[in-house]
Amino acid sequence: MVKSILLRLQIAFLLFSFSGSSFITLAQIQSHEEDTGNAKVESLLKKMTLDEKLGQLSLFMSDWDVTGPKLNDNYRNLIREGKAGALLNAYTVDFVRELQRIAVEETRLKIPLLFGYDVIHGHRTIFPIPLGQSCTWDLAAIENADRIAAKEATAEGINWTYAPMVDIARDPRWGRASEGSGEDTWLGCKIAEARVKGFQGKDLKANNTILACAKHFAAYGAAQAGRDYHTVDISQLSLYEWYLPPFKACVDAGVASFMTSFNDIAGIPSTANKWLLSDLLRGTWEFKGFVVSDYTSINEMVNHGIAATVKDAAMLALNAGVDMDMQGSAFLNFGDALLKEDKIKMERIDEAVRVVLEAKYNLGLFDDPYLYCNKQRQENEIMTAEDLAFARKMVSESCVLLKNEKQTLPIPDNVRTIAVIGPLADSKKDMLGSWSAAGKWENCITLLEGIKNLAGDRVGVFYEKGCNVSGDDKSGFDAAINLAQSSDYVILALGENRDMSGEAASRSSIDLPGVQNDLAEAVIKIGKPTAAVLFNGRPLAITRLNLSALAILETWFGGTQAGNGIADVLFGIYNPSGKLTMTFPRNEGQIPVFYNYKNTGRPYNQKDPDAKYVSRYLDISNEPLYPFGFGLSYTTFFYSGIEVNLSGTDIHIKVDVSNTGSRDGEEVVQLYIQDKVGSITRPVKELKGFQKVMIKKGETKKLIFSLKADDLAFYHPDLKKYWEPGEFVAYVGTNSAETISKSFWMK
Ligand code: BGC
Repeated sequence: MVKSILLRLQIAFLLFSFSGSSFITLAQIQSHEEDTGNAKVESLLKKMTLDEKLGQLSLFMSDWDVTGPKLNDNYRNLIREGKAGALLNAYTVDFVRELQRIAVEETRLKIPLLFGYDVIHGHRTIFPIPLGQSCTWDLAAIENADRIAAKEATAEGINWTYAPMVDIARDPRWGRASEGSGEDTWLGCKIAEARVKGFQGKDLKANNTILACAKHFAAYGAAQAGRDYHTVDISQLSLYEWYLPPFKACVDAGVASFMTSFNDIAGIPSTANKWLLSDLLRGTWEFKGFVVSDYTSINEMVNHGIAATVKDAAMLALNAGVDMDMQGSAFLNFGDALLKEDKIKMERIDEAVRVVLEAKYNLGLFDDPYLYCNKQRQENEIMTAEDLAFARKMVSESCVLLKNEKQTLPIPDNVRTIAVIGPLADSKKDMLGSWSAAGKWENCITLLEGIKNLAGDRVGVFYEKGCNVSGDDKSGFDAAINLAQSSDYVILALGENRDMSGEAASRSSIDLPGVQNDLAEAVIKIGKPTAAVLFNGRPLAITRLNLSALAILETWFGGTQAGNGIADVLFGIYNPSGKLTMTFPRNEGQIPVFYNYKNTGRPYNQKDPDAKYVSRYLDISNEPLYPFGFGLSYTTFFYSGIEVNLSGTDIHIKVDVSNTGSRDGEEVVQLYIQDKVGSITRPVKELKGFQKVMIKKGETKKLIFSLKADDLAFYHPDLKKYWEPGEFVAYVGTNSAETISKSFWMK
C-alpha cells in the first residue's frame, strides 16, 4: 500500500516536471500507470527469445494426485527453462508459491505463471452443478456463488478458472449439459454475464478475483446425437441466433479469456477456425483477452483429419488465433521450425504473447507474483459458515418440484417415521457432481444426513439402499419394502452417479439406470405417502417414474450442502421456486426437444392429437414430459389481466400474479414473445424476460415487463440483426407451456 502511494507520488512528480503544468489529475496518473503496464509488456517482449515466447504460450498440467502434489520434475524443469507460461491443476498456497518462486527467481526474465483450474461450481465449497444453479433463475445468487468460488480459489493460489461454460444444450444425452445453463439463449446470456462478473469482480488486481474463461467456443453443445466431441453441422443462422450470443455476452462483460471447443463446425475444428477466433471474436466483437486451446485440441486436429502432423496442427491453430496451447506442447515443439519455414509469423507470436502477458499484468502478478499465495486467507476464507449457509440456500433454490399430487410434499408434521430408500440417499461422493475442483466429498451432506439434521428427536429416520444406481441386483428390495411398510412416509433417492454426466459422459438412454424404476414401483405400491428425490446431471426421461410417483423433486447434484438444502424443501422450510432450464423429454426419441421450436407448415394440434399428415410422432405426444420453465410451488399462482402498452419503440407488458394458495411463495414469472410473421420463420415463442418475485398468500402483484423494439430483433440470412414490423404475441406464465397471452402490432 505504502509502496503504491510512494509510486503514485513519484509518477505525479515526474509528470509534473515534464508537463510543465502545475495541475495533474488522478486520471492522468492512472492512465500513466496503465501505460506503464503496456510498457512493461512491450519491454519484456523485446527482451524475449523465441523459446521464451513459445513458453509463455504453453500451459501444462501439474502432477497433482489425490492427496497432494507429487512434484514432477518435467514440468518443474519446463518452468525453470522458461518453457511454461501457465500451469493447470496446481493449488494450495505452499505448492503454488514454490512453483511461482521457480518462475520468478530461477528464470531469466522472471515472468510469473498463471495458475488455472476448473473451478466450475465452487472451489472448496461446492455449489449445485451449473445446470442446477440456472434453475434458480436468481442471477444475483449465481454471481455470488462464483464470487465465493473465486474468493476460495484465490486463497489457494488459483488466478484463472476454466468457467463459465456457456454452451447452449438442446440435447440431454450430452453429459456436459450439466456444466451449462440449459437450452435457452436469452437466459444463457444473462447467466453468462452474471458468472463473469462473479469470478472477475470489479478489479482483477484484487487478491480475490480470478480470470474467467468463456468456453467452449463454439457450438460444442450441438454435437451430433449428443455424443461428446462429435461433429457439429449447423447453419450460420442457428449459430448466430442460438449458440454464439452467450459468448458475446461474456465479451461484453469483460471476460479475460476464451477456450476453443473440441468439435468441428462445417468441417473446421474450432481450434483451427480463423473466422471464429480472429474475424468474429477479435475483429467484430473486439475481444482483447487471450484464447487457450482445449486440452490437447491442437494435437487432436490430426485425428480430425485436418492436419497431417502435430506441426501442421500447431500452424493452423496459431494462425487461426489460438494464443495458448493447453498441454499439447505443439507450439513449444514446432514454433521454431514453423517460423523458419515462414509458416507462421513473428508478429502473430508476439500478438499471442502480448495478450498472455497483459492478462498477467491485469491480475497484478508483475507487481506481486505471490498475490494469490496468502496462507492467512487460505486458513480463514475457505468454507466459512456464511458461505456454507449461502450454499445451502442455493441448493434449495435450485430444486425443481416436478410433481406434487395429493399434497404429498412437504412432509406433514404428523409424520413420526421416515424411510429414506435408494442408491443416492447416502452417497457423499455423488453429491459433488462433475468437476468438483478442490471440493472434498467427505464434507458433503447427504440427503439422509440432511433429513436427520432436521428431523431431530421428533422423527425416526431409517435407511435402506434398495439397489445400486446401475446393474440388475434386486437383493436389497425386500429390506427396502419392509422398511417402507413400517414407516409413515417414504423418500426415494434415485438418479445417476456423478460420473454419468460431465465430460465424456453421454448416454443414449436417459431413463433412471439399473433397476431403480423397479425399486420405485415396488416401494410405491405399498401405498405409503412417497416422494421421489432425483439426483442427476441432465434432464432424465422419467416417464415411467412419473406414472407411479405422486411427488417428484429434481435436485441435480447440490454440492457440499446438498442434503441440508434438499431437506429444507422436503420439510417445507423453503417453498420450492426452481424452474427447469432444459426440457424433460418423454423419451429419447423426442430429442432434440426444446421449447423454442418452429411451428412448421403442418403443426401438431393438441386438440386433434391423432390428425394425420402433421408434424408428430405416431407413438408419443409431441409435448415433453416437463416443459422449459416448469416448476411447482407448495402454493399456487394465478395469472390474469395481461395488457400490452406501446409507446414509440417501448413495449410495456403488464400482468397480475396472485398467490391463491395457503403459503407465501416465490414465483419466476416468465415473458415469452412470438413474432407471428417474419421474412424467415420464427420460433413459436422465445423467452424475453422474467421476474422472480415473492408473493405472500392472498396477495396479488402487478408486474411490468419493459422491452424495446430491438428486443424483437433476430438474425437475417445476411447475418444482420433487426426487427420487422407486424404482429407479435406476448405470453406471460408460470412456464413456457402455461401462459396467458395478448397480441400487439409494431409499426
Ligand atoms: C475440458 C475443459 C477443461 C479442460 C481442463 C478439457 O478436457 O473440455 O472444459 O477446462 O479439460 O481441465
